[in-house]
Amino acid sequence: MKTLNVGMLGCGFMARTHSNAYSQVGHFFDVPFKPVLKCCYGREQDIEVLKKFQQRWGYEEIETDWKKLAARKDIDIIDVVAPNFLHKEMVLAAAAAGKMIICEKPMAMNLDEAEEMVAAVEKAGVANMVMFNYRRVPAISLFKQIIDEGRVGRPFHYRAVYNQDYTISANVPSGGAALWRLSAKAAGSGVTGDLLAHSIDTAEWLNGPIKKVTAYTEVFIKERKNSDTGEMEKITIDDACMFLAVFENGSIGTFESTRYARGRKNYSAMEINGEKGAIAFNLEEPEYLEFFRYSDPDTGKKVEDHLTGWQKILVTNGEHPYMSKYWVPGTTIGYEHTFINALADFLNSSNAGGTGPKFEPDMRQAMRTQKVCDAVIRSAKEGRWVEV
Ligand SMILES: NC(=O)c1ccc[n+]([C@@H]2O[C@H](COP(=O)([O-])OP(=O)(O)OC[C@H]3O[C@@H](n4cnc5c(N)ncnc54)[C@H](O)[C@@H]3O)[C@@H](O)[C@H]2O)c1
Repeated sequence: MKTLNVGMLGCGFMARTHSNAYSQVGHFFDVPFKPVLKCCYGREQDIEVLKKFQQRWGYEEIETDWKKLAARKDIDIIDVVAPNFLHKEMVLAAAAAGKMIICEKPMAMNLDEAEEMVAAVEKAGVANMVMFNYRRVPAISLFKQIIDEGRVGRPFHYRAVYNQDYTISANVPSGGAALWRLSAKAAGSGVTGDLLAHSIDTAEWLNGPIKKVTAYTEVFIKERKNSDTGEMEKITIDDACMFLAVFENGSIGTFESTRYARGRKNYSAMEINGEKGAIAFNLEEPEYLEFFRYSDPDTGKKVEDHLTGWQKILVTNGEHPYMSKYWVPGTTIGYEHTFINALADFLNSSNAGGTGPKFEPDMRQAMRTQKVCDAVIRSAKEGRWVEV
């Protein structure tokens, strides 16, 4: 089996989920590569965090200059798990060095950057993907399967919510570990790129392209202390964003995201309502999918049954997506497995030279989400509908 030497460009939250995926993937899936955690990058100022990270996950080496790591001849795959403002530069360097690339979402700060990244990976001809891991929650994969089986029929409504509550206090600083998300210079946008990017990717995967949007964004706390500089800085990213969407298939959608929804930690939920049925999911109960069957997909006739109602499906059976790779029916898997599932699909895909189907989304496909995010931000700024 070929070894796959990993260069991890970051040592924070996502670096942990991705390192775990490389370590675990071969335990559950047949993949044509044996990942080797070769070298991880962190900033000089984060050296102690970097060393601890290396020790915990078993990386052979550390590096404080990501450009050197991206250019190393013995590295096969570059994994971009740094703040958003670094994604473009890192992907361009990795593509120029001919590496396979995994890039975290949002893929870029804006559409212009995303276009440059797609051009670079396509010119270099390197396998690439963007980590929209929620597609690989088994219940969300089942959501897609049920739609594709024609059990929802003509869709009328799609609604998505992605809410958290960790920035309610004015004392939460901006900048530094994890909180670079609150600085426009590091993140590009607020909840739109951070949270709604997931909701948009899933929505377009399940319900097709979004045609136009109209959005409203809010900044509740206007100034925060930047923990890197110690100075107060104006907050310009969107703390909350709500938008209406019209899909190409004629259905209409609502999207809501905030980090001020007291009580909500990582509440990502979605529902579709169609002529023949409806499906609902929420990430606080990730092993369940709810399905409402109105009519039979074959006959199109109403199912005459006094027991008709919402079914709550425990998505742990062998016939459910990904679940045959894990334990036995009735035993659940978790958040970290979505990254393992995504990595397994990528390593087996034709993108990576494997025999499996093409991996989705690659950067060209993920650019769609960037396009919708840009349209949402523009719409909020200009107070009008924007075509995607
Ligand atoms: N797929 C998902 O569900 C998901 C979840 C969280 C984050 N993400 C994405 O992953 C990427 C990394 O996010 P994270 O949560 O791991 O962040 P994090 O703050 O936990 O880690 C960021 C890493 O980048 C390094 N870094 C380099 N330059 C930096 C700078 N100027 N400021 C701060 N850190 C710097 C840090 O040392 C750290 O190792 C982001 O693009 C984010 O949007 C995706």
